[in-house]
Amino acid sequence: MSKIAAFPPEALSVPAVRSRKPGGPKLVMLTAYDFPSAKLGEEAGADILLVGDSLGMVIQGQPDTLRVTLDQMVYHCSMVSRAARRALVVADMPFLTYHTGLDDAVRHCGRCVQEGGVQAVKLEGGAKRAAVIRHLVQNEIPVMGHVGLTPQSIHALGGFKVQGRTLEAARQLVADARAAEEAGAFCLVLECIPAEVAAEITATVSIPTIGIGAGPHCDGQVLVFHDLLGLYEDARLPRFVRRYGTFGTQMREAIGRFREDVVEGRFPSSGEAFHLPEETSRLFEEERRAHP
Ligand code: KIV
Repeated sequence: MSKIAAFPPEALSVPAVRSRKPGGPKLVMLTAYDFPSAKLGEEAGADILLVGDSLGMVIQGQPDTLRVTLDQMVYHCSMVSRAARRALVVADMPFLTYHTGLDDAVRHCGRCVQEGGVQAVKLEGGAKRAAVIRHLVQNEIPVMGHVGLTPQSIHALGGFKVQGRTLEAARQLVADARAAEEAGAFCLVLECIPAEVAAEITATVSIPTIGIGAGPHCDGQVLVFHDLLGLYEDARLPRFVRRYGTFGTQMREAIGRFREDVVEGRFPSSGEAFHLPEETSRLFEEERRAHP
């Protein structure tokens, strides 16, 4: 049964995630883009499944996240939310879906809740997104903030680069995190920032921080599904990614064995085929011989 049909009693709610701080177990977030990735994440005990706009890169093969559309996000959210029973599902709002006005933002985020079945949305940006975070929260849409390297700003930032390395930039990050918290965000992603700055933000804000490339002091960690599992072994991975498997190799080997078996006539075997009942088979053969 999906969360769209019912809200299972074991489901991790937004207030439950918020109240992990202070002192609760660290939050484990994983990106998921479809039913199987969400089911695996759910079964492995992930607390939060983020339908990341990283899908533009790892699913669609795009060079960045900027081309993901709202319709695509709603579609991916609906697959993920059908697999989630305990995990909180969060939609990562695509570029330009929350930049063009407060009412547009409510309408677009509302589609991810109503059609996609998610419980919360994530927006990139701190102080400059405070008004839209506040407006969404006032309209009953919980918001996860995201500061540091915000991939939707790569053109403005000049690429995928570590943020907050100067004193001024580090101070701005702390201010951005505070602004997101004050606007009502229940949780905050910190991406690609020095560990010292992430530690200061984590100590300063009362909402949980979830790091990716932000060191060990955050209240939780997130990794991208395909990076964690090693599905693209030829990709140059950032230093913060730890691969917990080499499933790309295993999948390729399995497909290669299937190919060889087909070419060599070893697949399917007789046991993997359907057969006529014995008597029908005998009559069928007699008929074939009589009318070649
Ligand atoms: O899109 C994404 O996957 C993300 C995470 C890396 C936080 O934003």
